[in-house]
Amino acid sequence: MLYDTFVRRACQGLDLDWRKYRRKQSRKAVEGRMRELGLAGFDQYLDKIRDDPGEASALPDRMRVTVSRFFREKDCWRELTDQVLPELADKVSSSYLRALCLGINNGEEPYSLALLWKQSMEPLYPDVGLRIFGVDMDAGCLARAKERTYHGRTLREVPEEIQSRWFTQSKGMYVLDREPAAMVEFSQAHLMDPGLPGQLDLLLCRYLVFTYFTGVRRKKAVERLARLVKPGGKLMIGRKETLRPDEFVWFAPLSSARFIAQRTSKSVPP
Ligand SMILES: C[S@@+](CC[C@H](N)C(=O)[O-])C[C@H]1O[C@@H](n2cnc3c(N)ncnc32)[C@H](O)[C@@H]1O
Repeated sequence: MLYDTFVRRACQGLDLDWRKYRRKQSRKAVEGRMRELGLAGFDQYLDKIRDDPGEASALPDRMRVTVSRFFREKDCWRELTDQVLPELADKVSSSYLRALCLGINNGEEPYSLALLWKQSMEPLYPDVGLRIFGVDMDAGCLARAKERTYHGRTLREVPEEIQSRWFTQSKGMYVLDREPAAMVEFSQAHLMDPGLPGQLDLLLCRYLVFTYFTGVRRKKAVERLARLVKPGGKLMIGRKETLRPDEFVWFAPLSSARFIAQRTSKSVPP
């Protein structure tokens, strides 16, 4: 059986978009698991998944994709700087805003937000702080995020003035300064775990729920996200992602930017 056939059949019934798991990273994870179980082919692993609910429910996490880069999709970050953050900072009801980046890979996204704040917002709003929570289920991702050390290719969208001010080159790698890094509080959690930071002014959930999840899995995840964000708070998704019309009940897209939506006042049923 070909990997494509395996992944299509395996994703059926798990509410996952199989096309997004055709990447080498997912395939390697599946092959590694097959070796652990002593299985020779994808057809045997498919049988295992069908017979063993534990193996099936672990598959989405096993196949997850971890890629990111600083300021991924520059225009999204421009919209944050020009519109979203000033609007939130103007209306903030306490001394700081709360932001969560869910699915952080090696920290590129929460650190981009910290850098953007330091560079563009702090000078304009010296009395407002930003608390950034960075959450991922993968302990390795969190450990690498805390190291703050990156290949140049991850920095290719970083504006020159930010790179020269906040990164130091060492042995061919780029090390992020401690000051912006200290704005981020990391924790290891699955997005469906209870106890994620709530009362958010801003949630970045990019290339996770809105790319990989479909059907009931996506519905439950979006309701979970809606519980975390304050009415009037903002959600930023990826440029290549879209909200479904039935999700507008929780998150109403802003006409100026499709990838930013505002949490409505509708409460989520328990
Ligand atoms: C494709 S990366 C996206 C990273 C970043 N948000 C971006 O857009 O550049 C997805 C990240 O989400 C994490 N992830 C996947 N499923 C998760 C889950 N159920 N709970 C928490 N993190 C998850 C992965 O470990 C990975 O770091």
